[in-house]
Amino acid sequence: MLTAASSTIALAVPGLPNIKILATGGTIAGAGVSSTQYAGYQAAVTPVDKLLLAVPELGKIANVTGEQISQVASHNMSNEILLKLAKRINVLLASPEVDGVVITHGTNTLEESAYFLNLVVKSEKPVVMVGAMRPGTSMSADGPMNIFRSVITAGSKDSRGRGVMVVMNDQIIGARDLQKTDTMTVDTFKAPVFGYLGFVVDSKTHFYKPPARKHTHQTEFDISKVNVLPKVDIVMGYEDDSRAAVDAFVTAGAKGVVHAGSGTAAVSGQMQPGLEDAVKKGVAVVRAPRSSLGIITRNMEFDDDKFGTISGDTLSPPKARVLLMLGLTRTSDPKEIQRMFNEY
Ligand code: SIN
Repeated sequence: MLTAASSTIALAVPGLPNIKILATGGTIAGAGVSSTQYAGYQAAVTPVDKLLLAVPELGKIANVTGEQISQVASHNMSNEILLKLAKRINVLLASPEVDGVVITHGTNTLEESAYFLNLVVKSEKPVVMVGAMRPGTSMSADGPMNIFRSVITAGSKDSRGRGVMVVMNDQIIGARDLQKTDTMTVDTFKAPVFGYLGFVVDSKTHFYKPPARKHTHQTEFDISKVNVLPKVDIVMGYEDDSRAAVDAFVTAGAKGVVHAGSGTAAVSGQMQPGLEDAVKKGVAVVRAPRSSLGIITRNMEFDDDKFGTISGDTLSPPKARVLLMLGLTRTSDPKEIQRMFNEY
């Protein structure tokens, strides 16, 4: 459900950065029935005003105002909400009165939304995403400290020009590098292939590198006039798989398909004709690794040149889906889309 609300928790203090918090839901806005409930609680119930009042220390580090964009668990995050969020961020960051944006979000699909925003936000100002693994009602809830660290990062001049970042567990991770690695633990977010951008210690950011690939204002993607993103689906390769899922997605109107293959994005003998037929119908097919880690280059384990498929570089299947949706807003030429995968 889309909702809208606005709140201010402090009068503007001159000299402090002006940070906008956009809330979308997730466990960070979750509530359980007891302080020991870490599973089976309800995500996305606490409104942004209450979320911010739980961290009164924010008033000392920034002028913080909140806005409710949506109230969903992130596995219910839709393209519609993502577009609304991205457009709102671009409006806010165009204003000289906003120095940075923090987005609260569920952790389940955080890496997808983070990579999407990393490609479509048009500003050098800091954009920081944050979630929590424990609901606010739990013992040792991680949300309040994560929010505090996120606002520190969004207000830091050193954070400018680093693309969309995720701050959790004191670590700053680039949107493209981010991977959720565990279903329950608070240190679930890692950057297993490329490493962290930096850390937050007390009230200071420490950066060690810029993002490796083009991002935000450096990209060619403009969603200002996009209301619906092209439909892209993911099919999984596994022992004794079949072409049924890819056929069904194409019949349902998919403009793109990401094949999450085993090993170096291998394609089984029975899946191959399904992907070939999809390409012949004008559907863009990207190969990504189902392990989500490692590089897939062109013609690695599969003849991309012969079959007209696209190699996914180092993107996980969900992130490959995000880039393919955006690529398809500009072209359906597989060569051009391959260029984008090599570039972003
Ligand atoms: C969600 O992704 O919305 C629920 C789980 C979480 O935030 O950790």
